[in-house]
Amino acid sequence: MKKKTVRDADVAGKRVLLRVDLNVPFLPNTSTIADETRIHAVLPTIRYLKKQKASLIICSHLGRPNGKVVKDMRLAPVAYRLGALVGEPIVHVRECIGPVVQQAARELEPGQMLLLENLRFYPEEEKNDLEFAKALASLADIYVNDAFGASHRAHASINAITRYLPAYAGLQMEKELKMLGTALENPARPLGAIMGGAKISDKIAVLRNLIKRVDRLFIGGGMAATFFKAQGLQVGASLVEEESIGVAQDILKKAQGNGVKLLLPTDVVVGDTFAANTPHQVVDVARIPSRATILDIGPKTVDYFADGMRQCRTLVWNGPMGVFEWDAFAQGTRAIAETMADMNNAITVVGGGSTAEAVEELGLTNAMNHVSMGGGASLEFLEGRDLPGISTLPDKED
Ligand code: 3PG
Repeated sequence: MKKKTVRDADVAGKRVLLRVDLNVPFLPNTSTIADETRIHAVLPTIRYLKKQKASLIICSHLGRPNGKVVKDMRLAPVAYRLGALVGEPIVHVRECIGPVVQQAARELEPGQMLLLENLRFYPEEEKNDLEFAKALASLADIYVNDAFGASHRAHASINAITRYLPAYAGLQMEKELKMLGTALENPARPLGAIMGGAKISDKIAVLRNLIKRVDRLFIGGGMAATFFKAQGLQVGASLVEEESIGVAQDILKKAQGNGVKLLLPTDVVVGDTFAANTPHQVVDVARIPSRATILDIGPKTVDYFADGMRQCRTLVWNGPMGVFEWDAFAQGTRAIAETMADMNNAITVVGGGSTAEAVEELGLTNAMNHVSMGGGASLEFLEGRDLPGISTLPDKED
């Protein structure tokens, strides 16, 4: 079911409480934003609302201050950058509720913007506290959620707030729901899912959901080791989650039962140790040396996966193929990203978190149909779960 979006709301002359996810990373020990993608992602909604002559009360969390004021987690640097990108100054207050904020919100002219302080400085935010939500709601006439990345959290500004204000999805949220939702519910087929990342235990629920839906499942990253083990192969010193071997066996069985083609690496790059500069070599998966650690997929696997990917009309990718933060082991992840970026005939959807980071580092974000802004949120969405910030948004009536 489609959600009502900001386009369905009459916002002219109204005060809009806009929840966004400006949880951006900073360069170590500085107030310089290291990656602005999340700021850019909310600009379309902000521009739309400004054009409609709404006044905007923007709110976000930053980091995990655990209900206390943490100096380095103030939103001032983000306010500055957001103002620069929109092209006009933004009023910034150092609180989220109370008389100062009330007055600042009241004084906003149509089209003006106010950014509140980090919501998580208040313990009530993470407790989904009704009084806190009510106090936030008292600042505005309408609530818009454009924070997909935080919508897996039942927090006051995400969930409880919708009890007190008419609620709508923002444009970034609309795109996330459309792209991720279509991939799960109504994809152009064949649908392929590429799963990677270090641990299978983080991805069990996603694998269980996807195995019912996909035509092809590509498994790479550290978690492939648990699948190798499930097939009786030796994986040297690679991390194997013994308790998940049964899950891997079950996924292999379900793939067969559901007619899903499951592709595992045929060769891997192994290192002598788990270190950026460790000596390394490419080996067949049946010949992993007893002390070696798998650090990336190998070149034959890259070709094998790329061939399989090119036969898909929809591709969803979650999790790097190797330790891409280390140059020597970034090839597999890079090749998957480049293959996806080249696929003009397919819908390409990238999950957030480290996968989105890898794609951004490679400069390929714009070559994908969609790169999710949510790490944990996109994972929970792909698990097929109801997200507390989404289920609470009203559906369109038609
Ligand atoms: C994220 O970075 O994934 C979101 O901003 C949510 O942050 P959280 O995991 O601290 O809730």
